[in-house]
Amino acid sequence: MQPVEIRPSIFWVGINDRHTELFEGLWPIHDEGVSYNSYLIKDEKNVIIDLASKMSTDELVEQVETIVKLADLDYIVINHMEPDHSGALKTILMLAPKVTILGSAKTKEMLASFYGITERVQVVKDCEEISLGSHTLRFYSTPWVHWPETIMTYEVSEKVLFPCDAFGGFGALAGTIYDDPLVPQAWYEEQSLRYYVNIVASFSKPVLNAVAKLKNVPISMIAPSHGLVWKNHPERIVELYSKWASYATQPGEAAVTLLYASMYGNSERMMEVLAQGILDAGVPVTIFNVAKTHISKILPSLWSNQGVLVAAPTYEGGLFPDMVHALEVAHIKHVSSRTTAIVGSHAWLGGGQRQFETMAAEFKWEYTGNLEFFGAPSLEELEKGRQFGKDFALKVKEAARK
Ligand code: FEO
Repeated sequence: MQPVEIRPSIFWVGINDRHTELFEGLWPIHDEGVSYNSYLIKDEKNVIIDLASKMSTDELVEQVETIVKLADLDYIVINHMEPDHSGALKTILMLAPKVTILGSAKTKEMLASFYGITERVQVVKDCEEISLGSHTLRFYSTPWVHWPETIMTYEVSEKVLFPCDAFGGFGALAGTIYDDPLVPQAWYEEQSLRYYVNIVASFSKPVLNAVAKLKNVPISMIAPSHGLVWKNHPERIVELYSKWASYATQPGEAAVTLLYASMYGNSERMMEVLAQGILDAGVPVTIFNVAKTHISKILPSLWSNQGVLVAAPTYEGGLFPDMVHALEVAHIKHVSSRTTAIVGSHAWLGGGQRQFETMAAEFKWEYTGNLEFFGAPSLEELEKGRQFGKDFALKVKEAARK
């Protein structure tokens, strides 16, 4: 995309990445893509706020040089050191001989360990301001959104916030960078939620701290380093991030994530009646086959919904391996205080339910019971399963946020 002047002399000079398969080497984005949003302010002092990945360096240099020659660049702000925003740094330093890097004290340490950069680095303190001429940058210390070194940059005259990862989302930009009425807003919000849960959710408390810290700062536009620039409704993404962060410590929505896996269709048959039972109780359900759907795409539902119902067979004396993996990643991502139960089939001794019970205790999920059956479910067992689903959904309703 071509640069976009988002405010007088403030430009989006970002890159759309439609080639990376796995973000952070983990999270699939081959269908959705991602953007690395960099911003250039042209003034008496020229500054770039956040860069892009190493593989995007050539395109970033071209974007910037349509407006300012790198030889005339005075500052690079590193809000966040993760290489999706700093990978281009070493090359740009070679092309920008008079540039000074601005970042936190922790950023200074990390620049040395990641890139061997120890010179031309200036540490900025919380609420420190630097004048560029007609624009002024103010820096807010917001550690752990998403790494310990993170800061946010605020341009005082235009009231634009550059929060880097915070308020960002997956999804390449399509024709416009803005939360414009012409863009599929619901799709971008869905991508923002998946980004939040995959990348930021473990740091929900720091997210809420940052939101509280900026509460009285007048903000006309939020310009994150991934996804849409929130020009029309900046309050919308703050509201969404605040809600998502609240799921870390408060009950989820009155809804059930039904995770299943099935070797020969027996657990799947039971899963179908569990879903009917959940709906009988007037509670929405979202179903995932953990053997087919990447955990990246399951996590948003696990993060938001109070209920997690597992339907899976025993496999060699334990829980079905793909189910174990899905649940372990949910635990790594701090999906906590959920209401849960398990239903599963086994051929002889079982064991899946025991393993799940141990996991649920470790995760501090409220374990509400199990329903086990041998081989294929009988008609009676299916009837019991429907009732089990209904009873479980009523418990979820009780535990969910009101
Ligand atoms: Fe977009 Fe934490 O890097």
